[in-house]
Parts: sequence; structure tokens; C-alpha cells
Amino acid sequence: MTGSFLAGVGGYLPTRIVSNDELAMTIDTSDTWIRERTGIIQRHIADDRETAAFMGAAAARAALDRAQIGIANVDAIIVATSTPDQGFPSTATAIQAQLGVTKGFAFDISAACSGFVYGLSVADAMLRTRQCRAALVVGTEVFSRLMNWQDRSTCVLFGDGAGAAVLTWDDETDDASGRGIISTHLHADGRFGDILYIDGATGQSTKPQKLVMNGREVFRHAVGKLSDAVEEALHANGLTSADIDWLVPHQANLRIIDAMGKRLNLRQDQVVVTVDRHANTSAASIPLALAEAYADGRIKPGHLVLIEALGGGLTWGAALIRA
Ligand code: COA
Repeated sequence: MTGSFLAGVGGYLPTRIVSNDELAMTIDTSDTWIRERTGIIQRHIADDRETAAFMGAAAARAALDRAQIGIANVDAIIVATSTPDQGFPSTATAIQAQLGVTKGFAFDISAACSGFVYGLSVADAMLRTRQCRAALVVGTEVFSRLMNWQDRSTCVLFGDGAGAAVLTWDDETDDASGRGIISTHLHADGRFGDILYIDGATGQSTKPQKLVMNGREVFRHAVGKLSDAVEEALHANGLTSADIDWLVPHQANLRIIDAMGKRLNLRQDQVVVTVDRHANTSAASIPLALAEAYADGRIKPGHLVLIEALGGGLTWGAALIRA
């Protein structure tokens, strides 16, 4: 047994789309500034009904459909979110209830924009140790409710959405194909907690709080730390960047994504980009991007996929997946 198998990925995006031009009607910004600095053209914004649990459950259903795995088989739900519906019960248990899952376990993890990579790592470890058989890893965020909509340096960057992956193991199909989660590499350094954080009590995605960010500092840390994590992942498996078929990075800023692609000597068409249409959906960004690239056939069985993310904490990490 190598690790767990990524059986299906799905996403959910709110129907309301807000363009840069629409934002420029209420704050001092422009479509040109936002596009040039971030690559973002638009973002999806949740309505009152679209909470983290609601969107996460929708993404989970889409992932289960693609995996052709029935809800009755799910015995673990791990949700990465910084915008939970409530302090407790967890968003994971809310999603469990919305899906109608009545067995196994469910819990949230807090690792900001690295949450999906963290969740994948935790699920993979639990599957390897046979604590569950079919795990849903969900990233779901309603950052629109954390925004100070007067702060042009942050509010233009984020969007809402959810993505989910189904991970499984099966003794009978366990073979030497090498398909599945190859390895995950997690890091954190709490000394940098003050460059990206939520100001105020957490736990109510339905109540306004404020996201605070020193964008330049975050940018400064991003490429170096992500490059180190990626190098660690490749080295641990005796691989080089020439082996990578797809880079599916956290979608925060096109300049960071481009820099990572260049460092890895990848062609632009090997990098999955959604930040232009989704903006930064935090823990949801990687599974949303994966869902898109699996659905449109770019990622094919056997491809080597590298994911990486950095977020508040600071937290960061990378994972290699054989599709
Ligand atoms: N529209 C127009 N002008 C804006 C603006 C906006 N939305 N936001 C900031 N500005 C202004 C600033 O006020 C500043 O003006 P000044 O020079 O008169 O003071 C100027 O643009 C440059 O600001 P600066 O912060 O230096 O821009 P930047 O090139 O560093 O880009 C970010 C800002 C936020 C886009 C960039 O730092 C970034 O992407 N950082 C990483 C953020 C990130 O990835 N966060 C999530 C991690 S999970």
C-alpha cells in the first residue's frame, strides 16, 4: 500500500459574480490595478444561504458523484475553513448532517489558505493507518464575510467557494501502479502570525469580522517558502521538476503562481490557474482548481500533480499526487 487514492474532486461556486469594475464603483481602485498586481478579473460572492457548510456539502456531493462513491460509504469528513458557520459544532459535522452521513467521524482544521494541503495530509495518514475507508477532504470559505469592504488593499483579493476531494483505499485494487497521494510536506512558523490574520473572534461566518494583511510581507515569504516545500517533496521521492505534469498551486496571486512555475521550469500550460475567475478562495482554491482540471480532462490517470499553498500562520506545504 502506498497511500490513499484520490477518487474524485468537485467544486461549488456561488452564482453571484462581482467584477473588478463593480468594486471600483465603491472603492478607489481599478480593473487595471487589480489585474496587473494580482491577475484577478472577478470573484464569486456568497449570498446569505451560501454558508461554509452549505457550499462544502455541495462540493462534497460533486466529488462523490465524480468518484462514483455512495454517501453511505463516507466514514470521515475533514473540513479546512477559516470561516466556519459556528464556533462549534464544526462545519464538518454540519456538512455530515447535510449529506446524511451518520457514521464515522468529522472535524475541522484551521490552517488558513494551506488548509486543503493540511487536510489532505491528515486524511492520507488516517487512511494509511486504516482509521477510515473513504474520507472527504473539503475546503470551504466565505471570505466575503471577513472583508473590510473599505480596505482596497485586501477586499479586491478574495472570493467565496468550496472544493472537495474523496480519498479512499481498497485492499483489492491496492497495487504497484503508484497512483494516489505520494507524500505530503507540512510546515508552520507562528512567528509570522501578525502578517495575515482575522481580527476578532472567530466562528461565525455569518457575522462580520476583519481580515488584516501585510501583502508585501506575505508576498516576500511566499515564493521562498513554497519553493523549499516543493523541493522537499520532489527530493523525498527522488523526483525532479521535469517529472511534474501539473502544478496546481494555491490561487492567491498570479505573480506568485508564475514565479513558482518559472522556478520549476514548467510551461505556462502545465500550471492550472483559476485566480483570474475565482480570486483567492483560501482553503477552497486548490480543490476548486483540481476539480476544474480533472473535469476538463487536463489531469489524466497516471499524471504527476504537485500542489502547494501558503497561508496565515504562517502555514505552508506541498503534496505530490499520482492521478
Ligand atoms: N487599487 C488601487 N491601488 C491600491 C489597491 C487597490 N486595490 N491596493 C493597494 N493600492 C495602492 C497602495 O495604497 C499603494 O499606494 P501608495 O504607493 O500610494 O501607498 C500602491 O497601491 C502599492 O501598494 P503595494 O501594497 O505596495 O502593492 P503591491 O505591489 O505589493 O501589491 C498585493 C499588493 C496585495 C497585490 C501584493 O502585495 C500581494 O499580492 N501580496 C500577497 C498577498 C497574498 O497572496 N495574500 C494571500 C496569501 S494566502
